[in-house]
Amino acid sequence: MNIALSIAYLVASVCFILGLKLLSSPTTARRGNIYGALGMLIAVIATLTDRQIVDFTYIIVGLIIGGGIGLLMAVRVEMTSMPQMVGLLNGFGGGASTLVAFAEYIRLSGSADLTVWQAGPINLDVLITLVFGLLIGTVTFTGSGVAFAKLQGIMKSAPVLFSFQKQLNLLILVASLILGGLFVVDPSQWYLLLIIIGLSAILGVTSVIPIGGADMPVVISLLNSYSGLAAAMTGFILSNNVLIIAGTLVGTSGIILTQIMCTAMNRSLANVLFAGVGADYEASEETAEQRTVIRYTPEDTAYMLENAQSVIIIPGYGLAVAQAQHILHEVTKLLMERGISVRYAIHPVAGRMPGHMNVLLAEANVPYDLLLEMDQINDDFQNTDISLIIGANDVVNPAARYKKSSPLYGMPILNADKARTVMVCKRSLNPGFAGEDNELFYDKKTMMVFGDAKATLTNLAHLLKK
Ligand code: TAP
Repeated sequence: MNIALSIAYLVASVCFILGLKLLSSPTTARRGNIYGALGMLIAVIATLTDRQIVDFTYIIVGLIIGGGIGLLMAVRVEMTSMPQMVGLLNGFGGGASTLVAFAEYIRLSGSADLTVWQAGPINLDVLITLVFGLLIGTVTFTGSGVAFAKLQGIMKSAPVLFSFQKQLNLLILVASLILGGLFVVDPSQWYLLLIIIGLSAILGVTSVIPIGGADMPVVISLLNSYSGLAAAMTGFILSNNVLIIAGTLVGTSGIILTQIMCTAMNRSLANVLFAGVGADYEASEETAEQRTVIRYTPEDTAYMLENAQSVIIIPGYGLAVAQAQHILHEVTKLLMERGISVRYAIHPVAGRMPGHMNVLLAEANVPYDLLLEMDQINDDFQNTDISLIIGANDVVNPAARYKKSSPLYGMPILNADKARTVMVCKRSLNPGFAGEDNELFYDKKTMMVFGDAKATLTNLAHLLKK
């Protein structure tokens, strides 16, 4: 490898590492993104100048079509659809690794006609990484496809379970590895690679269908990690250092993120992957009608808020659905102008993706120092006048503390119920994503303010301005 190329790859890798570091705080995340994109640009340009490319036509056509579709998707995607968009991109990453690995095998075999084996000996490390690259890349491709379909509503998000499911997955994995071993012994058996690709494609589907929609963001993060590993394997096959480094960074950061999400939900990864949690919620009219709640109008709510000294706002998925972040910030400013202490409590898994609430509130320019993590603020609720819950549900559901049969059991929650008064802004008594009814709504100190979060907050802002 020439020295200029090595330096370019080194600079690109440093950009990736710096980018990841900066992404760890909301204040520096935008810069982190720019570093990451810059690193990728350097890596792509360096690679294009290095390879002995005879014709750029296909590359340019691919760039225009792929880049155009990517740009359109990124511009048009709703914030609430971001998890499935990430899932789709992971899948493409895995699929690309499979294609590149197989193309490299054809190149190494010395002929496009695979039945005519003309290659000399191929290094063992290349053969092993080829098998793993194809396996992981294909699992990522089809697994991400299923994750996308579940989140997009194309497929039922409920877990699809059948007998001997885990055993079947194990069998497919072991069969693929045995076939991979046979291929390594005799690399002229190209058809073994095709069988491995077929089996991995099935494995991707059968390992994601038993997982419910609620756990899909965790799965997407895990598949993201797989796509990184597949890229790193392809890097070994192609002897491309920057691909090895970038793939490893994606692989490790994806697994760390997966672990953080599991810890925040107090679930093990094995429980997420194999427990089949997250069945679809069937709205229970009976429950809603039988029990009584205290309903408040926006007028009453405005009056209560005006007379409070301290308010903690708890944003949740409904805030994102209603796109009410800007008007929420407006209400916050109106309350603060009256000398009321207002802070935001951010649960690590509020919303549908890591950092969802931080991104949403940053969009509305809510100052970062008002946003407090669960551990920083949970002890303050007991000295607070009002917990103002906007479109959140599971992250404040007390069932997580005591109800062993609940899918939420054991998940640390925000102590919203410890404040003197609890206000909940949502449209109905329907449960959150875990499908668990919320006792908090029926508590005598809870005021339910029914309606779309944006409409309610717009009303509140109007009243507070009077
Ligand atoms: P959820 O428990 O999903 O509750 C959101 C609530 O928002 C719903 O109960 C819904 O009630 C309300 N809502 C929807 N649209 C609304 C609108 N337009 N206006 C007002 N309210 C609206 O949300 P959460 O408390 O943020 O909890 C997140 C859940 O997702 C947790 O179970 C978590 O484990 C799971 N999860 C999150 C992640 C990440 S990384 N964030 C990853 C995996 C799983 P109505 O229909 O009555 O309005």
